[in-house]
Amino acid sequence: TRPLIIAPSLLAADFARLGEEVAAIEAAGADWLHLDIMDGHFVPNISFGPAVVKALRKHCGLPFDVHLMIAPADPYLAAFAEAGADLISLHPEAGPHLHRSLQTIRALGKKAGVVLNPGTPASVLAPVMDLLDLVLVMTVNPGFGGQSFLHSQLPKIAEIRRMIDASGRDIHLQIDGGVTAATAPLCVEAGADTLVAGTAVFGKPDYAAAIAALRQPSGM
Ligand code: DX5
Ligand code: ZN
Repeated sequence: TRPLIIAPSLLAADFARLGEEVAAIEAAGADWLHLDIMDGHFVPNISFGPAVVKALRKHCGLPFDVHLMIAPADPYLAAFAEAGADLISLHPEAGPHLHRSLQTIRALGKKAGVVLNPGTPASVLAPVMDLLDLVLVMTVNPGFGGQSFLHSQLPKIAEIRRMIDASGRDIHLQIDGGVTAATAPLCVEAGADTLVAGTAVFGKPDYAAAIAALRQPSGM
């Protein structure tokens, strides 16, 4: 089994000290940095855009995992690629042409992901599996950090694990929302290899200990 990837979500960081925060999370042993882009339209919250992503690139060497919660997403894909994204994920509901959007991300030289809301079925993935580097399963409704993990999504995670294994392709299975030391083992057991955590990392005083707790769940 491959090592678990921990991707702290910057949404829970101190926005007045973002440069220091991303440097600290890299030093604390994070694998990727998860950047939540919200437009106040696709989700009921506003976060930050490509200019902030670009500014942070100088302060952090981790892969930038950009989670777009914007609609439409297509007009902004190039801007996030140029800002320094390594992987760009979008929701199928963000536009009429999921396949084309994924092709665009690939053509920009970036890895591509699809994000499934709690109400979105795994079946949307089947026609685009050949374009995917990552599937992100939301275990909360997107828009805010600090919400409770939706256990109802665990069968969907297991279903997608089976789809990925059957595809024979190298596709990450990432979970986002309510991931803590208590819920991380449920995700891994269902087949996840990549965990996003906002408040469970940036909300703790010791980032290294918080990341270690996600890798080595305490069994709470
Ligand atoms: C929610 C975002 C998440 C958020 C997770 O819309 O996609 O990445 O930061 O926050 P926690 O880990 O606190 O649930
Ligand atoms: Zn996210």
